[in-house]
Amino acid sequence: MSVSEEFIRELKYKNNISDVVSGYIDLKQKGKNLAGICPFHIEKTASFFIYPSNESFYCFGCGKGGDVITFIRLIEKLDYVESLKFLCQRSNMNFPEDELSNDSYKQKMAIYKINRESAKFFHNNLCSLQGKSALEYLKKRNLSLKSIKHFGLGYSLESKFSLVNFLSSKGYFQKDIIDSNVAYKNRSGQIIDRFSNRIMFPIIDIRGNVVGFGGRSISNNNPKYLNTADTIVFKKSDNIFAMNFAKNSNLKNLILTEGYMDTISLHQMGFTNTIATLGTALTPGQVKLISRYTDEIILCFDSDAAGQKATLRAIDIFKQNGISSKVILIPSGKDPDEFIKYYKDESAVRFKELIKNAAADIEYKLLNIKTKYDINDAGDKIKYTSEILKILSNIENDIEKDIYCGKLSTELNISKESIKSQLSKYFKKISKNKNKENILPHTLGYYAKDNQDFSLKRIKAEETILTYIINNYDITDNILPKVSENLFGVNFNKKLYSALKTLILNNRDLNLNNILSEGFEVESAGRITKIICDYKREYINKQVIKECILLIEHENQRAKIKDIQDINSAELKNYIITLKKTKQ
Ligand code: GTP
Ligand code: MN
Repeated sequence: MSVSEEFIRELKYKNNISDVVSGYIDLKQKGKNLAGICPFHIEKTASFFIYPSNESFYCFGCGKGGDVITFIRLIEKLDYVESLKFLCQRSNMNFPEDELSNDSYKQKMAIYKINRESAKFFHNNLCSLQGKSALEYLKKRNLSLKSIKHFGLGYSLESKFSLVNFLSSKGYFQKDIIDSNVAYKNRSGQIIDRFSNRIMFPIIDIRGNVVGFGGRSISNNNPKYLNTADTIVFKKSDNIFAMNFAKNSNLKNLILTEGYMDTISLHQMGFTNTIATLGTALTPGQVKLISRYTDEIILCFDSDAAGQKATLRAIDIFKQNGISSKVILIPSGKDPDEFIKYYKDESAVRFKELIKNAAADIEYKLLNIKTKYDINDAGDKIKYTSEILKILSNIENDIEKDIYCGKLSTELNISKESIKSQLSKYFKKISKNKNKENILPHTLGYYAKDNQDFSLKRIKAEETILTYIINNYDITDNILPKVSENLFGVNFNKKLYSALKTLILNNRDLNLNNILSEGFEVESAGRITKIICDYKREYINKQVIKECILLIEHENQRAKIKDIQDINSAELKNYIITLKKTKQ
């Protein structure tokens, strides 16, 4: 979706960056700027700066930076549109789609409201006389009142009309009630509650909206769990239970379980980075959501065969998305919730121990293969070795690979050399097919590795030109024709320059948002901001830019003419001219 530049300007104006950031960290005045302890990495001295004149922030420690919108994206872990909405809420502005007041937006809002009312209704039931046995059930399952409140758990009454009657009395339309799937119309046209006599688990999205419910039967009613079907605000395959809490846990990884009860029990024990799928096999949508918050996942599925199969599958899907997995193996076939109940007061300590001893994905896979074969049988031994080699060939770290080869050699009594030579054959085969694009971009910023061996002077010159263009560009300026894309050696700078050129040609502002929209990821915001803010802009004038251009041209020439013997006379002439110019 696209929003107008006027809207963004207004939004940034009403959400002054210093005010917004000071809601998260303490800021101290430092000259014209403000400084504080960076909220994005661990540090003792303040390297996080706010530049009010540019409406930007930049951290010299970790390279994160950007404007108030980027800040909200990073700190609240929201995407672009969600961040705009977040800031709208903060400053009482209407998001453009409100103003369009299109029907689907209105209907979505109605459904969010109905879901929230229903969650409250269920929760009140649980705390009432009618919910006594349900509350008892939860207590028997060791949930504290605090957890029940925190997760907003509830109870749907046995009567099949209680929620429908309640919502109707509040004035909600039948159509919206049905569309939110808390009720349905039966064959004779009656509207009936979807959930009855169940413990209700509200499913809350990352912006805090109640999007659906899971309901666990406390009688022998089937199915054991009943979920909200997909609605216009809820897609089961794109949602994760408890992500609304886990995203703020500030722990470096997330623990993924299979169930609501597992997740709530773990939160209760202090593992607030726990989440659950909604009873489905892991989907790409869920992986995408998870990948926004972590690059390490701890899998904690049931220890039954189905759980283990799901674990193997999850390891591969996560790996494909740049997330590494560890696997917690819970002893004696328990699920996490049962484990906690069994060990009572000791369970937190014991679970921490399990996390500490979690198997790395490779180790887990190897263990898993081992259970399938009898290595004393010659036929099995070959199959076993070949399966293991398949896995080892995926290890990128040579030392790690060597360790596993050693282990395998001892275990099977085969020489390490023959294992390694077999492995390298395997490796050659697969590396041909490997897609190199899988490598994730790492944090950019001034220290980025892709400065590609250029001299610091050269890099600074390139960035100074970009700074000048961004901060001083006006139509009458004649700098653009003097600078060509090829002037820039650092790939990032080249890309930035061509983005600026596009914006200029389209008469658009050279602000961070517009620049980012020219094909940059949010991770680049820091690096761009640094270029916008960090150079002493007052000292950059046309003369300085001229010198920068010459310096770069000089280096480009020098790079071209590495071997003086290859030089032809015309090149030599050019070279001498540029040399003279730079010396002037
Ligand atoms: P408890 O028995 O209450 O401890 O739940 P559990 O989480 O241990 O249940 P189980 O391991 O059987 O299932 C794991 C998850 O799968 C649940 O949390 C549900 O999300 C889902 N699930 C289980 N049974 C059903 C079912 O009958 N229907 C649907 N739709 N989902 C189910
Ligand atoms: Mn369970």
